[in-house]
Amino acid sequence: MTEMMKAVQLQEFGGPEVLLYRDAPRPVAARGEVLVRVHAAGLNPPDLYLRDGYRALPPEWRPDPSFPLIPGTDVSGVVAALGTGAAGFRVGDAVYAMVRFPQDLMKGSSAYADYVSVPASDLALKPQGIDHVQAAGAPMSLLTAWQFLVDLGHDERNPFQPFPHAPVPLEGRTVLVNGAGGGVGHLAVQVAKWKGARVIAVASGRHEALLRDLGADQFIDYGRAAAEEVVQDMDLVIDAVGGTNMERFLSIIQPGGALFLVNPLGFVAHDDAAGRGIVVSSTQVQSNGRQLAEAGRLLDNGTLRIAIDSTFPLAQASAAHERASRGGIQGKVVLIAE
Ligand SMILES: NC(=O)c1ccc[n+]([C@@H]2O[C@H](COP(=O)([O-])OP(=O)(O)OC[C@H]3O[C@@H](n4cnc5c(N)ncnc54)[C@H](OP(=O)(O)O)[C@@H]3O)[C@@H](O)[C@H]2O)c1
Repeated sequence: MTEMMKAVQLQEFGGPEVLLYRDAPRPVAARGEVLVRVHAAGLNPPDLYLRDGYRALPPEWRPDPSFPLIPGTDVSGVVAALGTGAAGFRVGDAVYAMVRFPQDLMKGSSAYADYVSVPASDLALKPQGIDHVQAAGAPMSLLTAWQFLVDLGHDERNPFQPFPHAPVPLEGRTVLVNGAGGGVGHLAVQVAKWKGARVIAVASGRHEALLRDLGADQFIDYGRAAAEEVVQDMDLVIDAVGGTNMERFLSIIQPGGALFLVNPLGFVAHDDAAGRGIVVSSTQVQSNGRQLAEAGRLLDNGTLRIAIDSTFPLAQASAAHERASRGGIQGKVVLIAE
């Protein structure tokens, strides 16, 4: 008989109201996978894009999945069972992961559930110094900051450019982080500080106290002044916002510097950048348990911290998506399954 669990399912694409909390078959760990009893699941922008059917993409790129599907990539929980050949973990281990991303980008990685099956290679032991809520807030944002700034960690094809992304030296350099209050931004600030950079954080004013506490050397409230009116000669700008007008950052980067675009769609000024001697680069985050183990040491000892914007019971995933859709997130929105 199929064992059942509670999960958040989509039967159709749409607004937050299409997230339905209901009974679903409990997954079984496939070969090389680990069944995780979920304690908490973190929200990320791709969860909202998927719920909405990736409406911002051209029709031919949009997903055409077989419903129902279960969204969610980021999870923290406890190992409940091991599939054959799943090495490195034991039943009862506390673990965290970004699950099958981007492989399951268009159909959901199924983390909004009581149980999720995770490739062992995506999984790492949860840092003991943080709880499941913080650990569930970490994976995608932390791996994004890590793969942009520390170590790409894979040789998958880059969907955004013909060359692999490469981090740049940060020690003694000046780095501006735009969108510093969000999931990726608040970790980029901390990772750049840890690498020895001087960090300028750009966010709305209500994030200033948090960002200074996390190590930002200078804070710019974008509601009062645009970054390009305040600073110049940056070695690196990492933009964790995207949208139109990303090219404005070129004017504040030194020749030989770099502009890293976390959401590069819409950047059109490659010729201008080349003329100024500025490298423009992006990458798509990839699941990586090894990197979560490595960066997890910094979560464990408090070098990196996960700010929690808000938590919601798993059953109220639609309210969590409403919160995320309003924007202005400070750190992470997390669902609690226990
Ligand atoms: N390349 C990849 O693999 C990858 C991986 C992860 C995420 N992403 C993309 O990166 C972006 C950020 O992701 P996230 O998880 O960090 O999202 P998030 O948690 O929602 O954070 C976005 C932040 O941007 C800030 N913001 C909005 N407008 C701004 C503006 N004009 N100037 C400065 N800050 C502004 C928001 O807060 P305030 O307005 O209150 O400051 C918020 O804190 C998304 O577009 C996501 O799709 C890409």
